[in-house]
Amino acid sequence: MLDDLQGVVNIDDLEKLAKKRMLPTYYDYCAGGAGDESGLRKNRQAFERKQLIPKVLSGVKKIDLTTQVLGSEVASPILAAPVGMQHMAHPDAEVATAKAANRMGFGFCLSTFASKSIEEVALANGNGVRWFQLYLMADRSVTLSLVRRAEAAGFRAIVVTVDVPRVGRRERDVRNRFRRFETGKAAILRDPVFRSLLDHGDKESSVAALTKLDQIFPNPGAVWSDIEWLRTVTHLPIVIKGIMCPEDALKAIAYGASGIVVSNHGGRQSDRFPATIDVLDHVVKAVGDEVEVYLDSGIRRGTDVITALALGARAVLVGRAMLWGLAVGGEEGATLAFELLRQELFLGLSVLGVTTPSQLDSSFLFETYREE
Ligand code: FNR
Repeated sequence: MLDDLQGVVNIDDLEKLAKKRMLPTYYDYCAGGAGDESGLRKNRQAFERKQLIPKVLSGVKKIDLTTQVLGSEVASPILAAPVGMQHMAHPDAEVATAKAANRMGFGFCLSTFASKSIEEVALANGNGVRWFQLYLMADRSVTLSLVRRAEAAGFRAIVVTVDVPRVGRRERDVRNRFRRFETGKAAILRDPVFRSLLDHGDKESSVAALTKLDQIFPNPGAVWSDIEWLRTVTHLPIVIKGIMCPEDALKAIAYGASGIVVSNHGGRQSDRFPATIDVLDHVVKAVGDEVEVYLDSGIRRGTDVITALALGARAVLVGRAMLWGLAVGGEEGATLAFELLRQELFLGLSVLGVTTPSQLDSSFLFETYREE
């Protein structure tokens, strides 16, 4: 397995290997996007269109990638995105990616629909900076149980994903007749409060548990006042993930968020949402310094990270890039994915004439000059 990793030069190489290694239906679930998948492609095309302008003779002997996120220091502005059901890529799943993140000093976000329990992942992540991604379930007692467990397990923020009122129609999954939770692997099925919702006779039945899960997620009834409720039940900072316009960014602030993630869920919810890198600037201008702005969807290269930071993101999250590494080599593979991105970021900053991520601004974007 590790021999495979020798020839890997970039994240696309990892994806090619992952595709060979994974069950085709699992690979399709992970790689796919909504509808005609043009949203997925747009995320990449928008990055590829961006051009950066170097400032030479800047003295780049020492580069420091350290970044502050919600008051915690992380080794780079690249964080692990919440990706559910990581057992599809590798049996070690989130335990492996959480270990890899800690090894690299990267921040880690755990999904509500992880294959491993909150407590197991916290243990694997050790003293790492970790956040918990929360879906607002139709049953608040389950939502609250997850929050309490995350608090107890040392997670430092709650990332509420708000862009899944219903799950997007991913045609690959329809063709494959793929059902996400069919395998019964989601750790949430073992949450004690979730289990208490099951009728006595149903406690041993995984079909009954899955039916119950279908009744509480997705939750199309979720509204902004649910964030207000969440604000009253936890002291952890709240980050809202899935923001695509200034109006919603301002609402997130008004409802008490400390951060937002500009995200289109990696193109998985609609084929008509724009690329995140194309809306980032509008959002950043609207919110100013009031909240930290993060971005995900389509990050595959260090230069993508640089572009997002130049447009005002504090850090980026990577979903599939991490997943392909995990699929190819478990913890080692995920570490390699993070390392490739870190090296590309390091070199990218060097050739741009920048020594810290915080020095990046729009003056490094070619479009800034073109517009003048
Ligand atoms: C996701 N994503 C996601 N987001 C979330 O908030 N909760 C979740 O459980 C999941 N699950 C999930 C599974 C898979 C297989 C993928 C690919 C993605 C979305 C994820 O957090 C992130 O927004 C995207 O993955 C970012 O796009 P890239 O980096 O994959 O292009």
